[in-house]
Amino acid sequence: MELLDGKLVSKQIKEELKIEVESLVAKLGVAPTLAIVLVGNVEASQIYVRNKLKAAKLTGINTNLVTLPDTITTEELLKVVNELNADEAIDGIIVQLPLPKQVDEAAVINAIQTEKDVDGFGISNKGRLFCGMDAVKSATPFGIMKLLEAYHIDLTGKSAVVVGRSNIVGKPMAMMLLQENATVTICHSRTKDLGSVTKTADVLVVAIGKAKFIKADMVKDGAVVVDVGMNRDESGLCGDVDFENVAPKCSYITPVPGGVGPLTIAMLLYNTVSAFKKRHA
Ligand SMILES: NC(=O)c1ccc[n+]([C@@H]2O[C@H](COP(=O)([O-])OP(=O)(O)OC[C@H]3O[C@@H](n4cnc5c(N)ncnc54)[C@H](OP(=O)(O)O)[C@@H]3O)[C@@H](O)[C@H]2O)c1
Repeated sequence: MELLDGKLVSKQIKEELKIEVESLVAKLGVAPTLAIVLVGNVEASQIYVRNKLKAAKLTGINTNLVTLPDTITTEELLKVVNELNADEAIDGIIVQLPLPKQVDEAAVINAIQTEKDVDGFGISNKGRLFCGMDAVKSATPFGIMKLLEAYHIDLTGKSAVVVGRSNIVGKPMAMMLLQENATVTICHSRTKDLGSVTKTADVLVVAIGKAKFIKADMVKDGAVVVDVGMNRDESGLCGDVDFENVAPKCSYITPVPGGVGPLTIAMLLYNTVSAFKKRHA
């Protein structure tokens, strides 16, 4: 069994981006700029945003943090997004989720200009991904694809099972695996006899948000297992996979923490630099 070291791969991606940003700045006299919209005072969101700002700065990407009160209306937030869309100095926009209950989250996300939607959450980028067109890819599944690529894991003809069908992880993950010629099955909370399906997987990606849910008897010998879950239990942070018992059966597996998590921010920065390059091409 070999660990898929997301921390290491994300470090490599960020180092490459830093060098690329330096050469872009030398050539164009301007750095890529990422705008982050943070609404309200949710602690987890503040931590995520702080980490994104820090990583962007270390990579040489300019940041523009817009903080707004949690009493904001959908219309007011749409106005902010439209101003950022129109701002020539901004290459990428992310609106940190979740948004307060009174705000129409889908309307806000879909208002972000397709080229600036560096989270790849909008329906335009999702549709483009679905159709196999050039799209900004959602950072978490995109990071997983980079991780598999870094370990030379060939997906062609492999049976890939994705557990979870969220719009930000499960569904785009399935599309990206399909694009790499895997034979893909998507499972969810209504899947019957989940274990019998996950056991067919050469590559198993789990994104459900349930601590240590995938047990050893649900995994095929020699499988590649990617654990997207981030849960807290009595032992601290853990994934959706019962790592201790599943790992010995795998050819490769991601740890939690240190697997998928670090790649998400790296790919967000990657998408921002790509958006900048397209605008200046
Ligand atoms: N590492 C990272 O950077 C990163 C990024 C994003 C998310 N995450 C983590 O990944 C996990 C999933 O996130 P998400 O946003 O995709 O979650 P989500 O929107 O809550 O979706 C969960 C999915 O899991 C399915 N599910 C729930 N219980 C199940 C069960 N018992 N058997 C089979 N499927 C089940 C649900 O099925 P239904 O559709 O039928 O309800 C749903 O499709 C969470 O732990 C989250 O914190 C990590």
